Amino acid sequence: MTTNDRCTPASPGKLIVVDGIDGAGKSTLVRTLVEQLADRVPVLLVDKKSVDALDPVVAARLRAVNKIVYTPDNGAPTRWGDFHWLYALGAWYHLLEECVIKPGLAAGINIVVDNSHFKIWARFRADGLLGNVAIDSVFETLQPPDTGLLLDLEPAVAHTRRTRFTPLESGFTGKFVDYQSAVRRELRSLCGANDGWHRIEVDNLDSASVLEVALERVRRICSIAGGA
Ligand SMILES: Nc1ncnc2c1ncn2[C@@H]1O[C@H](COP(=O)(O)OP(=O)(O)OP(=O)(O)O)[C@@H](O)[C@H]1O
Ligand SMILES: [Mg+2]
Repeated sequence: MTTNDRCTPASPGKLIVVDGIDGAGKSTLVRTLVEQLADRVPVLLVDKKSVDALDPVVAARLRAVNKIVYTPDNGAPTRWGDFHWLYALGAWYHLLEECVIKPGLAAGINIVVDNSHFKIWARFRADGLLGNVAIDSVFETLQPPDTGLLLDLEPAVAHTRRTRFTPLESGFTGKFVDYQSAVRRELRSLCGANDGWHRIEVDNLDSASVLEVALERVRRICSIAGGA
């Protein structure tokens, strides 16, 4: 099935988003979740490296915008300004939705998203440098997930899981735990205010247990019988 396929399947795919603070275990879960689902349903992992499309023009545009957003450039984030980054990230997520997520879902493919716009949204709000109205206006028109899984982890525990910290992960205070606590508050409020979101307390769960809880949720919406 391709992103250009114009056949409409009987049922569209489901959009599953995994979120949480930096180091919460998102990529670990997404990887194993997709492995488990792949035997039973059509599934695609979407993350910040998702720049492939069958149409070369679409692929070129995905690569170009991705490069702007994700190429590290030695201090430039501060120079370009906060609104530049808000809109550049908005451009990336809207393009990804239009060219990868929407066509995939329409083709009946279930999509699991790592590094979704929700963490970016929460970061901008936690930074407190731009008004919430401006921040929300960029992200609120993106499609809500059929299921959002918030991996809720104590920032102090996330801190112990990491050896390196980028400025983006520590915020402007440079304090990982303080900054991630603010990001976590935003993600929790999002989760509490929207149907379809589920908070999973992962502090005391190993990776296999997190997968089990997530699969239980995902099976319900992807019409998969137990035992996956
Ligand atoms: N349930 C778990 N228990 C203990 N350690 C875990 C668990 N899940 C993941 N980890 C470990 O924690 C670290 C961070 O995990 P991972 O990269 O999946 O987090 P992430 O949320 O994707 O982080 P980032 O926001 O930086 O992308 C890794 O070393 C991973 O092996
Ligand atoms: Mg990750």
